[in-house]
Parts: sequence; structure tokens; C-alpha cells
Amino acid sequence: MATFQTLPGFREFYPEDFARRNHIFRRWRHTANTFGFSEYDAPVLEPLELYRAKSGEEIEAQLFSFTDKGGREVALRPEMTPTVCRLVGARASALKRPIKWFSIAEFYRYERMQKGRGRCFSQFNADIFGEPGPEAEIELIALLVQCLCAFGLTEQDFHVRLSDRDLWFFYLEAHGLDEARIRAVLVAVDKYEKMGDEAFKPYAERFGPLDGGLKAKILSFLAIKSLAVLEQTVATLGGGRIGARLGDWQKLLGALAAMGLARFVEVDLGVVRGLAYYTGFVFEAYDRKGELRALAGGGRYDDLVEKLGGPALPAVGFAIGDMTFALLLEQRALMPDFTQASDVYCVIGGEAERLAAFGDIQALRAAGHRVDYPLKDMAFGKQFKAAAESGAKLALIYGSDELAKGVVKVRDLIQRSEFEVPRAQVLATVRDSLSGA
Ligand code: HAM
Repeated sequence: MATFQTLPGFREFYPEDFARRNHIFRRWRHTANTFGFSEYDAPVLEPLELYRAKSGEEIEAQLFSFTDKGGREVALRPEMTPTVCRLVGARASALKRPIKWFSIAEFYRYERMQKGRGRCFSQFNADIFGEPGPEAEIELIALLVQCLCAFGLTEQDFHVRLSDRDLWFFYLEAHGLDEARIRAVLVAVDKYEKMGDEAFKPYAERFGPLDGGLKAKILSFLAIKSLAVLEQTVATLGGGRIGARLGDWQKLLGALAAMGLARFVEVDLGVVRGLAYYTGFVFEAYDRKGELRALAGGGRYDDLVEKLGGPALPAVGFAIGDMTFALLLEQRALMPDFTQASDVYCVIGGEAERLAAFGDIQALRAAGHRVDYPLKDMAFGKQFKAAAESGAKLALIYGSDELAKGVVKVRDLIQRSEFEVPRAQVLATVRDSLSGA
């Protein structure tokens, strides 16, 4: 018989895995709520056009795309950003500002599989629309940090690397590069950490080799790791826009310091982001040891809403991926053990007692207790074993003797004590015992 397997890079969630995923999603959702973000969702299948030339060549090459039965070119979503731009763009004038939205959803990219990278993964996305100044970045970087700290991770475990495509543009413009060349340099910078000099090959193929002096300057710019050095380096370029931009940097870093988050955030011009639509501040979160792929990435994308047919609307956002994140939690022993214990296990004498037990089981469940019982008649010994294995705190024993007396026997499986209660008091007794009263 043929055994069917999942497609490469796709995941199945057995209950233990699902419980872990739920745990992560629950905390992300809770954290986003505490920051005043509202949740949304959208289709998994989108028009291919939404991603063409908007997300960038790399993502375009990774699309799961096909022609549907109506002849439409469609793609499974590889990311949320173009979609959320469409949603917000369509109702921009009616939406209350600031627009602070988040989602937790699944995405698909035909990528080469490696540790922490699959073809199907989930992301927590958070975005702010309508705020042109660094106030949006302040809010989002604080949210990103809290989404990781909410699981017990600290500055020993991860950091956020913060950079600026605006300053990269100003710097390269001042060195005589036009927009096409600047974009090609930034693609190389994005890959430099992983590939070294190889990263500049596509640039050279398109525009000829970079001048040696300029290349050295680019390499020293991407090595900048402090605001002081950044300020010194760009100060020589002059111009009002540089001064204003450095003002934004000071505001952003000052606010993060005031929130007590400076220890998580590092200036690092080596980050420029691979996606085509970013326009200003960009940032990525990594594990401190640098062993894993990026945990999260984001930045400002002020032109995308308009490019997708909406009004001009500034935007900033980020996404955390669940795969690298779960790996980091496991490495740091911060993933809880999810044995799903029952509250109550009912031990039932026979068919007649079963009917009596059903009424209580239903009432206990309706009251919110997790209750289990053997689906079929079973010897008492086996039922007690099942009760112990279920992790239940209480066993309720529905034997013929007890029911004849109008009582149920309650066994506290932790304290190892036993007592009888009148049938009418089962619900109240369980409630009190479980709450420790
Ligand atoms: P991204 O850097 O492509 O950004 O993805 C963000 C995160 O999603 C990555 O840091 C990684 O954790 C996870 N991720 C990406 N691809 C994979 C994969 N193949 N397997 C597992 N995890 C993956 C974006 O997607 C932007 N749309 C984020 C954003 C939101 N920018 C503005 N708003």
C-alpha cells in the first residue's frame, strides 16, 4: 500500500505540536492586544499580480503559483504585507487612526529547506498605517521585543538589529549612484553577511564591477554598529535631510531607551532587508548566538499602499516567524510541557450507572471542567489506571452501591483521600476541590 507523505517543507501538527503552536499564538495575540492592536485575516489564495514586482524578485521566484479553473493567475500568499495594504487602502479614509493591526496566519514559499525554514510557516504580522514619523517604529519595535520577552527570552537570547535604507540611499547618492545602482548595491548588502564578495556578482554583471574605493566605503558603511559612528560618517555628506534623519534616529533610540529596551536594540547598517518595498528604518531580530536564521524582520514601506491602488499612506510593520522562534524557545528550555490533563475522570460501574453519570458529566463540562470517562465498560482496575494516566485531580466513582445510597464517591488522586457526596452536590464539590477550597 502506498504511504502518502506531506509535500516537502509542509508540516503536520500532532496534538503535542499543535499545543505548542497554540501556546505561541496565544501569547502573541495577548501581547498585541495589550499594545492596542486589532486582529484581521484575509485569503490564503491571492491574485499573482499582488506580488509581482512588489515583494521583490526573491519572493517572486519562491511563489506557489498556478492558473485556476477560471484562467486566473493566482498564488498562495508568501507574506501578508501586500494583502494588508489592500485591506487598509480600500477603507483608509474610514479607518480610525492610528491604524494598528495584527494577524497570525500561514504563508507559503517554495524555499530551499533548512533548519528553521520551511515551505509553509506561520507569521505574526503587526503593522501601523498613517504615521510618517518614528513614533510608529517606536511602538512596533517595543511590540516586537515584548512578543519575544513574553516567553521568558531576555537580551541574552536575542537582539534587534536596526538600520536605515534612507541613510543608505543618501550615502550612495552622495557617491554618485543612481536609483537602479543603489537598489542593486542594497541587494548585495542584504546578502553580504551570508555570501561575502559573491553577493556583489549580480551588481557587477549588470553595471560592471564596483569601483574599488567605493566598494571599500560600502563595506565600512555596512559595518557601522553605533549611532556615533553613523553620525560621523553621514555628517560629511551635509544637507538638511541628513540632519532631520539623524533627529529621527535620536528620537527612536531615545524612546526605546526610555522604555528600558535599549539593551535589546543595536544599530547595525549591515541589515537592509531583501524585500523590495522597504523605504526607511528596517530591522531584524536574531538569536544572540547567531546560530539561527532571522526570528523576525520588518521596516517602513511608505509607498506600497499607493502602489497597490490605495491612497498615499505611510506604513511600518514586521513579522515574526514561528519556526525559528519555536527552535529558540526549545534551545532555551522555555517551551512548556503540554500534557493535557483532565480535571475529572469518571469511573463507572456498568451500563445503568453510566446513564446516571452522563447527567453529571454533561453538567460538569458545561460548567467548564475538563471531564473524561471510558467510552466502553471496563474493569474498575483499568479505569483507575486510566484516571491516573489522564492526569485528573479527581476521580468520581459511580458504583451501584454508591448510586443505591444516592451518593457519588470522590477520590482526590493527588491527596489520595476519598469521601462520599450526595449526587446533588457533585458539581459544587468538584468546583470547590478544583479551586483548592
Ligand atoms: P520576512 O523577513 O520575509 O518579512 O519574514 C519575516 C520572518 O518570517 C522571518 O524573519 C522568518 O522568521 C519567517 N520566515 C520567512 N520565510 C520563512 C520560511 N520559508 N520558513 C520559515 N520561516 C520563514 C516579511 O515577510 C515581511 N512581509 C514582514 C513585514 C510585515 N514587513 C512589514 N510588515
